[in-house]
Parts: sequence; structure tokens; C-alpha cells
Amino acid sequence: MTDPAPAQAPQPTAAALAEPMRSRWSASVYDDRHRLAPAEIETLLRAAQWAPSAGNSQPWVFFVCVPGTPNHDRLLAHLSRGNSSWVPRASVVFLTAAHVRTGDEPDAPVYSDYALHDVGQAAAHLTLQARAMGLDAHQFAGFDHDALAAELAVPATHQLLTGIAVGRPGDPADVDERTAARDHRDRVRKPLAEWAFVGRFDEDPVGDGLADSGS
Ligand SMILES: Cc1cc2nc3c(=O)[nH]c(=O)nc-3n(C[C@H](O)[C@H](O)[C@H](O)COP(=O)(O)O)c2cc1C
Repeated sequence: MTDPAPAQAPQPTAAALAEPMRSRWSASVYDDRHRLAPAEIETLLRAAQWAPSAGNSQPWVFFVCVPGTPNHDRLLAHLSRGNSSWVPRASVVFLTAAHVRTGDEPDAPVYSDYALHDVGQAAAHLTLQARAMGLDAHQFAGFDHDALAAELAVPATHQLLTGIAVGRPGDPADVDERTAARDHRDRVRKPLAEWAFVGRFDEDPVGDGLADSGS
């Protein structure tokens, strides 16, 4: 599979990162004629499967939504308006859920204190594997969680969390202007000085960067 240049150039402070982190970004223009082979979808799931988790608890569930299948139809019916313009064009969408409780009652003991952390990490692994395969991936949470969880028969022990759209970059001419413009928004980040501490939370954070090379 080819590795087309991203529409969004990696940002300066990402330059030091290794691939596939460096060129990862949340693209919104997908080629709706592109389909992934079942083996490619399996490889993406394997990346999530091999993510670390607290006590190897593996608290994740992934729903696979391929265009033209019932799961994809279920998802499309419950997307937020903003996400309806771009998610349907992706080659596959994964929905993540976390095993949060050990029983059906709201006050049942938690399955793992770190379930949400671990599902996020599995999602990140899948997202980076996609990038390494020359694909774009865009995580999203804008959908009706309760309605979609009901349609997917998610049990009370689990919490439906996020979607991950994966696909090949598309032609901006094939989508409406607003969707095309999304891929040219600035990608910005808080400086390290706001969230990285070499001492206590209430002490001085790292300056503009540990190596004085910008934030
Ligand atoms: C949990 C989560 C929820 C998100 N929800 C949406 C969403 O509903 N719609 C959307 O277009 N992007 C969504 N995003 C994408 C973020 O806006 C994006 O990751 C962020 O702006 C940083 O941009 P980058 O991924 O290109 O670096 C979500 C990302 C995460 C991790």
C-alpha cells in the first residue's frame, strides 16, 4: 500500500517523533471507494489486542463497522451531524467499549480501575498501526451513545466509548467545502510547560522544553 503525503504537514514539535507517530493526524476526507481486505482489518485489531493493560485485564471491546453491513448502518443512524459529513466515507469504523463493571447493577464493583485508560491505549495502538499501513485514522465521540449501545446490545457491564474511522485519503473535490476545509485546520498543542512537571504539580513546570528547543 502506498503512503501518500498527509494533507496536514507534521507540526514542528512533532519532527523528533518516530513514525508512525510523526505523521499521524485526524484526517476527515476519505476515499469512499476504498475497502480494506479482511486481513487488513484483522491486523488493525491485532494492534489493539497487543496493547498493554493493567494486570493484562484487556478490558476492551471493538465493534467492526464495514460499509454495507448492519453495524455500519447502526452507526450511521446515530452519528452527530458534524460527524455525518465524513465518517460514512471511511473504509471501516471501529467502535470501542470498555468493560467497566463486573455486574449489571450501577454500583457493581469495577472490572478494573484502569479500564478507560487501557481502552484508550488499545485505540491508540490501532490508530498508529493504521498509519503504519499508509492509512489515516480519526477517532471520534460525536454519536448518540445510549441509542447506539442499545442497538449493539452492549451489556450494562460495558460502556460504549468512541469511534475510530480508518481509510485512505480521498479527493477533497468529492466532499463538501466544509468537510474539505477540516483537513486544513491548524493542529495546535499546549506547550510542555503547561503539563509536564519535573517536580511537584505546584512547583515550576519544565520551561519551554526540556532541551530548550521549543514547546
Ligand atoms: C476521544 C476523542 C473524541 C473525539 N471526537 C471527535 C468528534 O466527535 N469529531 C471529530 O471530528 N473529531 C473528534 N476527535 C478528534 C480530535 O478533535 C483530534 O484528535 C484533535 O483535534 C487533535 O488533532 P489530531 O488528531 O489531528 O492531532 C476526537 C478525538 C478523541 C481522542
